[in-house]
Amino acid sequence: MTIKESLFWAKEQLKESCQRPLFEAELLLAFHLQKERIYLHLHENEEVEAFEMFGSLIARRAKHEPYEYIVKKASFYDMTLFVEKGVLIPRPETELLVEYAAKIIQEKKITRMAEIGVGSGAISIALARKFPKLQIIATDICDIPLKVALRNIEHFGVQKQITLLKSNLMDEIKEEIELIVSNPPYIAEDFVLESNVADYEPKEALFGGKIGDEILKQIMIEAKNRNIGYLVCEIGYDQKKSLQLFADEIGVKCIDFYQDLARFDRGFIAQFNKEKNE
Ligand SMILES: C[S@@+](CC[C@H](N)C(=O)[O-])C[C@H]1O[C@@H](n2cnc3c(N)ncnc32)[C@H](O)[C@@H]1O
Repeated sequence: MTIKESLFWAKEQLKESCQRPLFEAELLLAFHLQKERIYLHLHENEEVEAFEMFGSLIARRAKHEPYEYIVKKASFYDMTLFVEKGVLIPRPETELLVEYAAKIIQEKKITRMAEIGVGSGAISIALARKFPKLQIIATDICDIPLKVALRNIEHFGVQKQITLLKSNLMDEIKEEIELIVSNPPYIAEDFVLESNVADYEPKEALFGGKIGDEILKQIMIEAKNRNIGYLVCEIGYDQKKSLQLFADEIGVKCIDFYQDLARFDRGFIAQFNKEKNE
């Protein structure tokens, strides 16, 4: 089949599973041929080599497997990260978390921070690249994220700044920390997710408990008990009220919530010990 015919065929296969079937067909064919997308338009009548292999990529996508797992790459911030099944695909809204954390690091001259739930390493690597003097201890409870994060950390050459630890929350961190950043699992266990997420992404990265905000609350308690200055977290769109109440209950000094570009509540910045850090 030629490139033009292959794209027409692939578009038909992806009609039910993708919002932009032709675009995704082009991305996957470009990946298969190891060329830029523009190449497809300039060589429409060229034969596609190893068409069966392209066919199997299309079949995976037609079964809702995320594009990022098929090509083993995800864009985040100014980086292309390696990803594989078993690690959460970093989301664009998490770039906001990096921005809010960066503001605090800059304003408060933070030099030691922790990330809980490192996943692919997206947040820690973005912050390490922005602040070359920043030291980060990043934990995860699962092995695949730790392996993938290490690969990305080495790829971006920030291994002197980021230490990975297998740990539940911060249990294994003994050092003094000034800031915690986390995009923890925060989805309620009975929430029905789309099949590209539910069938492929790791449950440990998604579900935060029966209500969903349980791990977020544990992290708040941890920050409070350890007298850590600042905590920046991503949250679910419907969790602001319960987290505000909880923050008041445990005596958080100050908590500000932020919204994403679609105006959904998406995260908070909490301050625990004003006197020490001001
Ligand atoms: C929503 S993902 C975030 C991954 C990455 N930070 C990002 O933003 O793309 C949450 C991560 O937390 C990890 N995790 C879940 N429970 C944890 C716990 N109790 N302690 C440490 N990490 C945990 C999961 O394995 C997963 O990698």
